Amino acid sequence: MSCTVLVTGGAGYIGSHAVRELQQHGYDVIILDNLSCGHQDFVDKALGAQFIEGDISDRALLNHIFATYPIQAVMHFAAYAYVGESVKNPAKYYRNNVVGSLTLLEAMVAAQVNKMIFSSTCATYGTPDALPILEESPQHPINPYGQSKLMVEQIVQDFTEAYGLQSICFRYFNAAGAHPNGDIGEDHDPEPHLIPKILYAALGKGEGITIFGTDYPTPDGTCIRDYVHVMDLARAHVMGLGYLLAGGGSTNFNLGTGHGFSVREMIQTARQVTGQPIDCVECDRRPGDPPVLIADYTKASNVLGWKAQCSDLKTILDDAWAWHQKRHIIHDKD
Ligand SMILES: NC(=O)c1ccc[n+]([C@@H]2O[C@H](COP(=O)([O-])OP(=O)(O)OC[C@H]3O[C@@H](n4cnc5c(N)ncnc54)[C@H](O)[C@@H]3O)[C@@H](O)[C@H]2O)c1
Repeated sequence: MSCTVLVTGGAGYIGSHAVRELQQHGYDVIILDNLSCGHQDFVDKALGAQFIEGDISDRALLNHIFATYPIQAVMHFAAYAYVGESVKNPAKYYRNNVVGSLTLLEAMVAAQVNKMIFSSTCATYGTPDALPILEESPQHPINPYGQSKLMVEQIVQDFTEAYGLQSICFRYFNAAGAHPNGDIGEDHDPEPHLIPKILYAALGKGEGITIFGTDYPTPDGTCIRDYVHVMDLARAHVMGLGYLLAGGGSTNFNLGTGHGFSVREMIQTARQVTGQPIDCVECDRRPGDPPVLIADYTKASNVLGWKAQCSDLKTILDDAWAWHQKRHIIHDKD
């Protein structure tokens, strides 16, 4: 029997990969995206998926979508996700991420759609007391972005109690890489993430690489993060959906590899992959950057049978580099 999934934010980076994975597993997909940060060509390439340009805060549109399509589950990627911007403009983040998600959840309850997978983040943990980070670790976000995601986690939990919502909150660590077919990948403007910034620099574009802090208590003095390939994230979503459709109860999972790489290691590997020198400058620490973030993914492994399969640094950088080169050539022709 076919199953229809509404994917909010399906024109964005992670959502577009989840759309491909869902389609590959035989799901029917409806994409809802306002294209504020997403890409029309990402949805054009998702052949067979229905694209609706619109906003998760538009309750009338949501009612129409749920009345029109036999939607059984929602994957909710739509959000603003720039930490720095969230500090300068918190209202924008609370309105879109929290109020928008609440509107979506209310529309789901009204339409009796009771399965949701929500994109949460390791930013909900703030600066961890212990490593690797477990799902039960204290959640003390240190910026409005992380706070907005934690608020939605709490709303989702309350909707589980009140309305029988079945939900998964996936707390991603650092999403990275691109689709191996080179069609979709990471393309944000401005680009906040390290790997695309490094690869832009390798292409002779962008603002160059700044290493913020070289005196952290890590082996080479730079921050360490847990990078997980976007294809591994997409696969987790399909496994999570299978879990909910089989009657699984509401829960949350870390999605990471259990290994971290420093900023210097990332730049050095990118030099090898691209063959480019990639210059960088060193600066003082930025406020609010925890020295090390590494996931314990045991729960996702035990419950879903999920484990990262293509998140080694070389594969992440090979795929991201192929994507950025292709995107760069296309943009330069425009
Ligand atoms: N990229 C990461 O490393 C990372 C890590 C942890 C969590 N996340 C979360 O994963 C999700 C996807 O992240 P991403 O990197 O793909 O971001 P993205 O910006 O590429 O994708 C988000 C998509 O949502 C759309 N959108 C935003 N607000 C909307 C609204 N009100 N109505 C309809 N569409 C809207 C945007 O147009 C965009 O296409 C986000 O919720 C983000 O917070 C991302």
